[in-house]
Amino acid sequence: MTDTPSLEVDHLTKRFGDFTAVDDVSFALHPGEIFGFLGPNGAGKSTTIRTLLDLIRPTSGACRVLGMDSRRDAVEIHRRIGFLPADLALWNNLTGRQTLQYLANLRGGVDWGWVDQLSERIGADLERKVGEYSSGNRQKIGILQAFMHRPEVLILDEPITGLDPLVQLEFHSLLRETADAGGTIFLSSHTISEVERVADRVGFIRRGHLIAVERMAELHDKALRRITLEFAAPVPAAAFEGLEGVHEATVEGATVTAQYEGSMAPLLAVATQHDVLSVASASVDLDEIFLEFYRDEVEAAEER
Ligand SMILES: Nc1ncnc2c1ncn2[C@@H]1O[C@H](COP(=O)(O)OP(=O)(O)OP(=O)(O)O)[C@@H](O)[C@H]1O
Ligand SMILES: [Mg+2]
Repeated sequence: MTDTPSLEVDHLTKRFGDFTAVDDVSFALHPGEIFGFLGPNGAGKSTTIRTLLDLIRPTSGACRVLGMDSRRDAVEIHRRIGFLPADLALWNNLTGRQTLQYLANLRGGVDWGWVDQLSERIGADLERKVGEYSSGNRQKIGILQAFMHRPEVLILDEPITGLDPLVQLEFHSLLRETADAGGTIFLSSHTISEVERVADRVGFIRRGHLIAVERMAELHDKALRRITLEFAAPVPAAAFEGLEGVHEATVEGATVTAQYEGSMAPLLAVATQHDVLSVASASVDLDEIFLEFYRDEVEAAEER
């Protein structure tokens, strides 16, 4: 890894009318890194990605890819990166190969030996018309077009959608090889297990807020379960006292630090009654945190 970020999101905010889809989000990715961008439906993942690619304009903040400004240098950025959108539009009357040839002509620099090798690895069918494809095979064409010019940076919006487990495994080894060769991979996902399996770091986004960015290895290594919660406003200390499994909870204004054993559910149950801005955790039970957020999101949707 080098010190120069290959992808940077800098205080990005995106509003649609008076709704804030992405709220002051910042992070940076470096060459050789796979970054998992995890969050429930509507969290702001695709909005962040679309802004990075200049498909929509930020309300404020900026994005840089390979040191270039995402707005001013959009054409050059699109030439040098690979992008798999969540809602890939293809031409139904072209075959998979014709589709890739068309996109390769626009882009240049495609090595067809590599394309054939890749399509064999992920089991893509290039010879039938796209309109006749299964959703998995359509997704494979999307993956091929993102990888075919061997880009330095890959931005992939839920790439494993529709892929069967064996193809997912093959795809994940492709991601690892690409990162090992110095590539940068930004991967959005709903799936904790996918991110755990493949990512070096994970950013968790919820309701437009990037609430945690953690190194996967550190999350797994820390034996002691500690959690730091930041709230939008000071929280009452009494609320965190005497909770089941919680040994030590320190409340300082809007920050709560706790050590606990067993389930973090009692702690999260209290925490989610307040406006949580961020969670920093050194816990092997990553799933629990994330699932708790999903649950909260589902409940909020039901209330609407
Ligand atoms: N063009 C738009 N106009 C108005 N609201 C929008 C627009 N695009 C996105 N949103 C809203 O912004 C929020 C974030 O959407 P986004 O597509 O970024 O979520 P996501 O994290 O990609 O979710 P999913 O996992 O479902 O793909 C949602 O509430 C969505 O309805
Ligand atoms: Mg999305």
